[in-house]
Amino acid sequence: MGEVGPFKRLLGHMSSHRGTIRLASACSITNKVWDLAPPLLIGLAVDVVVLKEDSLLASFGLIDPWHQLVFLSVLTFAIWGLESLFEYFYGILWRNLAQTVQHELRLETFDHVQKQGMGWFDERQKGDILAILNDDINQLERFLDKGANDFLQVSTTVLVVGGVFLFISWKVALFAVLPIPIIIWGSFRYQRSLEPRYAEVRKSAGAMNALLENDLSGMSTIQSFTAEEREMKRVEVLSNQYREANREAIRLSAAFTPLIRMAILCGFTATLLLGGWMTLEGTLAVGAYSVLVFMTQRLLWPLTRLGETFDLYQRAMASSTRVLDVLTSPTEIKQGEYAPALEDIEASSIVFSDVDFSYPGRDPVFTNLNLELRSGETVGVVGSTGAGKTTLIRLLLRFAEPTRGTIVWAGKPLDQWRLERLRSSMALVDQHITLFPTTIAENIRYGNPSAVDEAVYQAARLAEVSDFVEELPEQWNTLVGEGGHRLSGGQRQRLAIARAVLKDAPLLILDEATSAVDNETEAALQRSINKLSQDRTAVIIAHRLSTIRNADRILVLDQGNIVEDGAHEDLVERGGIYSRMWAVQTGQSG
Ligand code: UTP
Ligand code: MG
Repeated sequence: MGEVGPFKRLLGHMSSHRGTIRLASACSITNKVWDLAPPLLIGLAVDVVVLKEDSLLASFGLIDPWHQLVFLSVLTFAIWGLESLFEYFYGILWRNLAQTVQHELRLETFDHVQKQGMGWFDERQKGDILAILNDDINQLERFLDKGANDFLQVSTTVLVVGGVFLFISWKVALFAVLPIPIIIWGSFRYQRSLEPRYAEVRKSAGAMNALLENDLSGMSTIQSFTAEEREMKRVEVLSNQYREANREAIRLSAAFTPLIRMAILCGFTATLLLGGWMTLEGTLAVGAYSVLVFMTQRLLWPLTRLGETFDLYQRAMASSTRVLDVLTSPTEIKQGEYAPALEDIEASSIVFSDVDFSYPGRDPVFTNLNLELRSGETVGVVGSTGAGKTTLIRLLLRFAEPTRGTIVWAGKPLDQWRLERLRSSMALVDQHITLFPTTIAENIRYGNPSAVDEAVYQAARLAEVSDFVEELPEQWNTLVGEGGHRLSGGQRQRLAIARAVLKDAPLLILDEATSAVDNETEAALQRSINKLSQDRTAVIIAHRLSTIRNADRILVLDQGNIVEDGAHEDLVERGGIYSRMWAVQTGQSG
C-alpha cells in the first residue's frame, strides 16, 4: 500500500514527543514485567513447601525452608512496590502526554483552519469542523490515555509468559502458546474490518453536529415558521444514522472478546491436562505446574482486552484521519512577499484588468471586467440583487480569486502581496455583520486591539455610535450578545463602521446590508461616509441611492458588467438604469 496509514501520520505529528513516548513505554513494560511476577512467586512458594531442603531456592544457598519463605515474602514486597511505582509513572506520563498532544493538535488544527480560503469553508459545514476540533481530537486523547498502554502491556504479557513457558516446559508451552499467533492474526483482520465502520461513525457524528449547529443558530427562524417538528425529524434521522453506524461497529466489536476467550480456553485446557499429566508422571515439578496454570490465567485476561484496545485504536484512527485531513489540506491561498509602504498604497489606484470570475459550478459573475478605483476616490456601487457587488469586494479581499485577469494595486497583482499586508490595508464593513459576544467597546476595538480608549470613542463618534451607547444602562460595557443580536440592525451596522474606522486603513469598503436602513440610520450612514471617505479610497455598495449620491463616481453593475459610470448628476441626466432607479426611489417614477 502506497498511502501512509493514519497511525504513521499521527506518529509523524507526535515526533517531538518521541522521548516522552519512549519513557512512558518503558514504564508500561516494566510495570507489566513486575505484574507478571506473582505466579512465579507462587510457583516458588509451592516448590518450597513441597520440596523443602531440595527446592530451587535451596540450590541458591538458602537451605532452611523457613528462611526461604521469609526471603520470598521480602521479594514479594519489593516486587509489588516496584509494580505500583511504575504504574504511577506510566499513568502520569501517558495521561499528560495525551493532554499535551490533544492541546497541540487542537491549536495546530485551528490555526490551519484559520488559514483556509473561503472556498474551503464553502465546501464544509461549520458543525462538522467543530466536531473535528472537539470530538475527534478528544478521541485521540482517549486512545493515548489508555490504549497505548494496554497495547504495550498485552504485548509484554505475551512475550514474558511465552518465554517463561518455553523455559519451564516447551511441550506444554507449545499448546498454550499455539493459539496466540492465531488470535493476533485474527485481531488484525478484525480490526481492519472495524475501520470503515468507525469512519462511518465519525462521519455521521460530524453531520449531526452540523445540523445541530445550524438549528441552534437559526432557532428564531425555526420557531417563526413553527418548524420545530420538522427539525426534530431531521435531527432524529441523523441521530438514528449515528446510532445505526455505531450499531454496525458494536455488532462486530462485541463478538470479539467471546471469540478470543474460546481460543484461549483451548490453550488453558491443554496446559491443565498436559501439564497435569506430566506432573503425575513426575516429569514436571509441582511448582512449575502451578506456575504454568496461573500464567495461562495471566495470558487469558489481557488478551480478552485486546478487543477493547483495538476498538479504541480503531476509533482513534478514524478520528485522526479526519483531523489529519484538515491539517494536510493545502491552504489554498497562495501569497507573495510584497508589502509596500503605507504611502505607496495610499497613493495608488486599484486596477482590474480583464477579470473573469465564476463561483464553482456556476455561470460566470464577471467576464472581462475592467475597472479602476483611483486613489482617494469615493466610488459608489449600485446594481440589482445578484449583480456581483459583493463578489467584487470578495475579489479585492482575496476571499475569491479571479479565474482570469489581474487586479493590481500599488504596482503588483494582489496575489503577489503578502496576504496580511493586503488585508490590513482594507477596512471592511460586511453585508452580514459579525459582532463578537463581548462588550460594545471590545467590538469596536477589534479594528485595532492596541487603540487607546480615546481613539475608540472617537471612532464611535464618527460612526454615530456614541448617541445610542450613552443611553444604554451599561454604556460601553453593554454586552452585544451572540452575533450582536441584542442590538438593532442599524446599531449593529454602525458598530461595524466604528470598528472599520478604528482600523484606519487606506481602503474603506462598505457593503450595505439591505435591511439596516431606516431614515435616521440612512442619514447617519451618509454623514459617516462623507467624513470617512475624505482622506482615503472608499468603495461603498449601497441599496439606497441617496447614500452614495455624493460619491465621486457611481458604478452601475448589471449582471457582472459595469453599464454606467459617472457622477450622480451625470447619471441622472443620462436617462439609463441609474436614472430609472433614482426616479423609483425618490418617488418620481414615470
Ligand atoms: P453577489 O453576492 O456578488 O451579489 O452575487 P450582490 O450584487 O452582492 O447582491 P446583493 O445586492 O447583495 O443581493 C453575485 C452572484 O454570484 C452568486 C449569486 O447567486 C449571484 O448570482 N454567488 C454568490 C455564488 O454563486 N456563490 C457565492 O458564494 C456567492
Ligand atoms: Mg451583496
